[in-house]
Amino acid sequence: MFSSRTTSFSKEIMKITNGRGVDVCLNSLTGDMLHESWRCIAEDGSLIEIGKKDILDRNSLSMEPFDRNCSYRAFDLSRFTWERISEISEDVLDLIHRRHLRPLHICAVFSFENIVEAFRYMQRGSHIGKVVISFENSKITKVPIRPASQELRLRPDGSYLYAGGIKGMGGSLAVYMACRGAKNIVVISRSGYDDAKSQKVISDCKALGCHVGLMKGSVTEIDDVRRAYTTASKPVIGIIHGAAMLRDRPLFSMTLEEFHDPILPKVKGTWNLHNVAQELGLKLDFFILLSSLSGLLGQPGQANYTTGNVFQDSFATYRLQQGLAASSLNLGPVDEVGWLSSSKVLDRFFESRGWSAIKEKLLHRILRASILQQTHTLNPYSTGVMITGFVPEKPPFEAVHRFSALRPAAGSVSARGENFSGGFGRNKLDLLKNAANADIDKDTLLAAAVDVMNEVMMRNLGVKEPLDAARPLADYGVDSLTTIELRNWIRVELAIDVSVLESMRARTLKALSETVVNKLLRC
Ligand SMILES: NC(=O)c1ccc[n+]([C@@H]2O[C@H](COP(=O)([O-])OP(=O)(O)OC[C@H]3O[C@@H](n4cnc5c(N)ncnc54)[C@H](OP(=O)(O)O)[C@@H]3O)[C@@H](O)[C@H]2O)c1
Repeated sequence: MFSSRTTSFSKEIMKITNGRGVDVCLNSLTGDMLHESWRCIAEDGSLIEIGKKDILDRNSLSMEPFDRNCSYRAFDLSRFTWERISEISEDVLDLIHRRHLRPLHICAVFSFENIVEAFRYMQRGSHIGKVVISFENSKITKVPIRPASQELRLRPDGSYLYAGGIKGMGGSLAVYMACRGAKNIVVISRSGYDDAKSQKVISDCKALGCHVGLMKGSVTEIDDVRRAYTTASKPVIGIIHGAAMLRDRPLFSMTLEEFHDPILPKVKGTWNLHNVAQELGLKLDFFILLSSLSGLLGQPGQANYTTGNVFQDSFATYRLQQGLAASSLNLGPVDEVGWLSSSKVLDRFFESRGWSAIKEKLLHRILRASILQQTHTLNPYSTGVMITGFVPEKPPFEAVHRFSALRPAAGSVSARGENFSGGFGRNKLDLLKNAANADIDKDTLLAAAVDVMNEVMMRNLGVKEPLDAARPLADYGVDSLTTIELRNWIRVELAIDVSVLESMRARTLKALSETVVNKLLRC
């Protein structure tokens, strides 16, 4: 008998078999141990793999034993058909009947109350034979259990209203609601439902026995909202408000119309949906506002959209105060469905900032939690705003100007011992900060500025390689929003103002660094 705790067993097996190896190996070892077992197979022999780890991890196998006509055979009982299992069972029962197979001896018996002990005993890995849990020695069987999670069952006797159409996230949520038992969904959007995506959602819902009522109109028009409520074949009992519009642009160059466009569906639309429900005296099981994390953390170029989201968060609190159901979902960037899923912005912009993308399945779980929070009060301390899609270890404060007061001073060491200004040590940043007072030659300052700003750009663009300082910034996808972020960083860290025009005019990182150094020297 050899130990399977180290790889030495293979050498010992080869030694006692005079270098021949074994004909059959039933293997459940993983990693290096699996390779050692495979190496021990004799000419024409077989290794039968009963473990799954290396297969699932898609690991590789040495080709050398195949040169000796060896076979590697994977065996997973769960993939057998019932007919095959029944054949095998007959063979096994026959072997037991003829006493070729005997039961393993029982090495330890635990009562139900001591299940935990039984697992600990097995975990030590020192037993041979069966570990049995028996009720024979138990007086009262009280087993600790984890309660099953609350199941979401939507009601067939009412309608659910989705504002915002079913081309984006709405489509995925409609099908999810149909899967959870909804039989009537009514949708409102301005552009209609003739497109392929909407049609697919309608037929998927129909296949699940759910009727989708379609209403063409705007949530910002109260009469359209009234029509949506009356279009519903059964009284509306739940609302999801996902109508939204984006008009991204730096605030100072935004027109009044561009400022209002994203705000209106969120502010006026939310009021309309609420007011008509009140007018009709409807008792809603849930009122969900699809708000965004950008309202909480801010997002360059989205002053208009974030305003709408902040309003929705406050509105959820307002409804809760009235004793009405409400939940505002601060969604992070959503992958797979919705407007961002087809956009490259997801990797470049968000992930580098600690905003973690929400996959479709997780989106459904978030919706489930939000509905159950309103129908079953999962968390009695909830404020009505659910924050999602955010990785707390990566503070959002770094590049965000409005949080600058919360950060340690630039270049200083944080409580966790990290340099908050990024990877560059305090030397280069300090060098730039003292440019006006210290006698430092311009080339040294320029080199420091290129390095420091390169780090900031890498982080903002979400790229791993430093930028070529002489290459046009546009080649790296630097747009007006990235430029504004860099400008904000320069303002906060170096206390100088570089206008957006100056930043845009400097076509390369080197040219921009020169502008910065010239300004620093003039201070
Ligand atoms: N996708 C994401 O990553 C993400 C992240 C955070 C938060 N969110 C939030 O999630 C919700 C849904 O996002 P999504 O990705 O599904 O966006 P989407 O695909 O752009 O869908 C939003 C829909 O709203 C409709 N709409 C705009 N104004 C309207 C109005 N006045 N009346 C009725 N419908 C109107 C538009 O359709 P019509 O033009 O046909 O009206 C549009 O298709 C939004 O509230 C958004 O703020 C999304």
